[in-house]
Amino acid sequence: MTVEIPQVYRHHVFACFQSRPPGHPRGSCGAQGAEPLWKRLQFCVESLQDPSVAMTATGCLGFCRAGPLMVVYPQGVWYAPKTEADIDEICDEHLVKGEIVERLVIVPKV
Ligand code: FES
Repeated sequence: MTVEIPQVYRHHVFACFQSRPPGHPRGSCGAQGAEPLWKRLQFCVESLQDPSVAMTATGCLGFCRAGPLMVVYPQGVWYAPKTEADIDEICDEHLVKGEIVERLVIVPKV
């Protein structure tokens, strides 16, 4: 039996806000420059004024060395943006048009 579950958001972005001290063996998204990127992402999402697009701050997503990391559901697309321009591109292409920005996609190894 298949249960149909309604989709709450068209795009729901989870961004890793975890920070660890310098020299920590796991590293962290925060130590790799996440803060200005997530501020930009927050600005982008709020600017859309689209209730079908949401952003949630998360703790560690588990792949710290690859960070800063964000993931967009329901597609489950992981991104590793490095610049605010990358964030703008993800916002314009993925969150607005639904087009995946392939050059910024990362597939974490489990
Ligand atoms: S600290 Fe961001 S994935 Fe672990």
